[in-house]
Amino acid sequence: REGSLWGGRFADGPSPELVALSRSTHFDWRLAQHDIRGSKAHATALHAAGHLTDDELTGMHAALDELSAQVADGTFVAAATDEDVHGALERGLIAIAGPDLGGRIRAGRSRNDQIATLVRMWMLEASDRVERGVRAVIAALVEQAEAHPSAAMPGRTHLQHAQPVLLSHHLLAHAWPLVRDLERLAEWRVRASASPYGAGALAGSSLGLDPALVARELGLSGPTENSLDATSARDVVAELAFIGTLIATNVSRLSEEIILWSTREFGFVRLHDAFSTGSSIMPQKKNPDVAELARGKAGRILGDLTGLLATLKALPLAYNRDLQEDKEPIFDIVDQLDLVLPAFAGLVATLTFDEARMRSLAPEGFALATDVAEWLVRERVPFREAHEIAGALVQHCEERGIELHEPSDADYAAIDPRLTAGVRAVLDVDGAIASRSGVGGTAPSAVATQLATLRDRLAAL
Ligand code: ARG
Repeated sequence: REGSLWGGRFADGPSPELVALSRSTHFDWRLAQHDIRGSKAHATALHAAGHLTDDELTGMHAALDELSAQVADGTFVAAATDEDVHGALERGLIAIAGPDLGGRIRAGRSRNDQIATLVRMWMLEASDRVERGVRAVIAALVEQAEAHPSAAMPGRTHLQHAQPVLLSHHLLAHAWPLVRDLERLAEWRVRASASPYGAGALAGSSLGLDPALVARELGLSGPTENSLDATSARDVVAELAFIGTLIATNVSRLSEEIILWSTREFGFVRLHDAFSTGSSIMPQKKNPDVAELARGKAGRILGDLTGLLATLKALPLAYNRDLQEDKEPIFDIVDQLDLVLPAFAGLVATLTFDEARMRSLAPEGFALATDVAEWLVRERVPFREAHEIAGALVQHCEERGIELHEPSDADYAAIDPRLTAGVRAVLDVDGAIASRSGVGGTAPSAVATQLATLRDRLAAL
């Protein structure tokens, strides 16, 4: 049968139901150019091993280049009868080169080592796009941090007011996980750059082909060490799926905060018109859809990862057709990140912060109570007692509906004689922030150091 890669031992063709189930061209066609590059490299290896003459190699490469052009301009497409991208392209090659030359390309290789290699080639390119997207989000966060060097805000734990922090410190706290995600991508690339080509269906090839040559031609680092592993492992797919999921998850955490910050109750940020949406019925609405879609896509992406791992679980060696199910999840993860990251970077870059409101809320909820306790420690009070005294001050203020600086000196003394007027010096947002100047702290000096370190880590990637 034309376009089929097998059939010699079959009396009957496949049922329409099997064809429908088996077909993968609607999603693996995006690997067509990678497949052709693989075939060119494989032809070179066949020639080096004496299975193609010089003329045959020249003819094969020319035919593959022609096929590549036809795929690129859409004159060659998969037919309904093609099982997968590999079968379709062999059909296309034979149409150009004829059955004698075109029929030689498949010697010594299998779709199993092919597909394992093509997915890696595709993922390595995709990871560059993901990296660019993540870098754009980090750049937007860094830009906003630099634009607001002294803006204070309520730092929270349990979503309750905890201690004042710098807005820049908070923004960079969202940048760091993304920096680590880029480092994860760089480490993953080393593992993903090994080439399964030459592993054959599972056991290697008897034709004396050089897998190192193919790897080199494809820009990969070298051949994989074990042909069974090469054709059946999908850990490098799962690992990129995980890193992609982690990126989406990290972005979803900032998404959630932006959604909260843009509410009337928080009132911390205004969204740019270009990165917000309206309502079809409520004329006043301005909605944070970019952040919501980023948050929602994180769930979908996590589903892709989970589905992929479920497919791999307990799968015996070596190749099983189940492995065809690896492609749609990893394609979807990258496709969604390709959409989310640029829009999210734009959203972050164009946020307008209400510095005055954030600052005015920073000390509320007795957020400076820890400063009272730590001031007492510097006055030689054991922390256990200092914590009690500051707690009593909070209770005193809460009962009266006042803030920590509002009681009189006599009120302070009545709570504890060691609570003197000197404590007023630390009941100040800027003072509280500036005092946390150790490595990783929220003081402006520490945040400046942190920013320099972050830049170095990005530059080292
Ligand atoms: N389309 C398959 C995949 O994506 C590759 C073909 C392997 N088919 C086979 N019968 N061994 O994994």
